[in-house]
Amino acid sequence: MKLKGQTIVLTGASSGIGAEAAKIMARRGATVCLVARREEQLREVQELIEADGGCAFIYPCDLSDNVAIEACAARILAEQPRIDALVNNAAHSIRRPIEQSLDRLHDYQRTVQLNYIGAVAMTLKLLPRFLEQGHGHVVNISSLSTQVPIPLFSAYLASKSALESFTRSLQAEMGHQGISTTVVYFPMVRTPMSSRTAIYKYMPMMHVKKAAGWIVEACEKRPARIARPMGKLGSVLLAALPGPATKLPQPLFRGMDKLLASQLKKKG
Ligand SMILES: NC(=O)c1ccc[n+]([C@@H]2O[C@H](COP(=O)([O-])OP(=O)(O)OC[C@H]3O[C@@H](n4cnc5c(N)ncnc54)[C@H](OP(=O)(O)O)[C@@H]3O)[C@@H](O)[C@H]2O)c1
Repeated sequence: MKLKGQTIVLTGASSGIGAEAAKIMARRGATVCLVARREEQLREVQELIEADGGCAFIYPCDLSDNVAIEACAARILAEQPRIDALVNNAAHSIRRPIEQSLDRLHDYQRTVQLNYIGAVAMTLKLLPRFLEQGHGHVVNISSLSTQVPIPLFSAYLASKSALESFTRSLQAEMGHQGISTTVVYFPMVRTPMSSRTAIYKYMPMMHVKKAAGWIVEACEKRPARIARPMGKLGSVLLAALPGPATKLPQPLFRGMDKLLASQLKKKG
């Protein structure tokens, strides 16, 4: 599927992977509709795209606010005569042990509200257009860590797993009506999101441009899943042997955290 001539709505386009993906897709001839809260950053991405000869529109919106999503989707639908794909990329991550979350139910609520409800709300609003056109592709962004379970991200990973499950239902129910879906399972990527955790400073991570390439591939090739081989293997092991697949890697993760913390202490 060539991107030239397509219109793609991309959330979380003001920074990190979303901003990079928007630039690549615009360079390949797509019209990109950029959604996020920070208007100034969206405008910067838009200006870079336009300076490069591309076409971008900005739609500032807080995707944790259902009313704001309705207004934003209504504007997009009114202004864009065709919409080929929606990439639900905006998200917030929280790294916190469950034991330190005992009085923090709001962590779970706000993570689900943005990462899951926000993505579903935008999808539901654009679906009628996809059905009218007879086609539409939905890309939902998840994490390798739902395939290879890691500790300390319970709120974040639960919200991503919910989104994966919604994606499967969408494909199963509406695939025959021209709706296609991709779930992208990113490993750790060097972006503002991952940089918020100090001990990850020296952790090897995927480059943001490579990660953006996965979103572009999701829109061009429309596979059901884009993931690393390790993630695919993790999914199989988790389905076949959930006990050992969850328990056995945990000492490794604890060891990795210790190593990263000592590297940070040494190198600063
Ligand atoms: N980085 C990683 O290691 C990693 C690993 C696995 C999966 N992922 C996933 O990859 C995707 C992109 O993450 P990233 O690393 O590029 O993060 P990022 O640089 O922090 O970007 C997050 C984007 O989401 C937007 N956003 C956050 N809250 C929002 C809200 N309430 N309403 C609207 N937009 C909101 C932000 O824009 P505003 O602040 O302007 O609203 C920003 O554009 C996410 O789905 C993330 O879960 C990332």
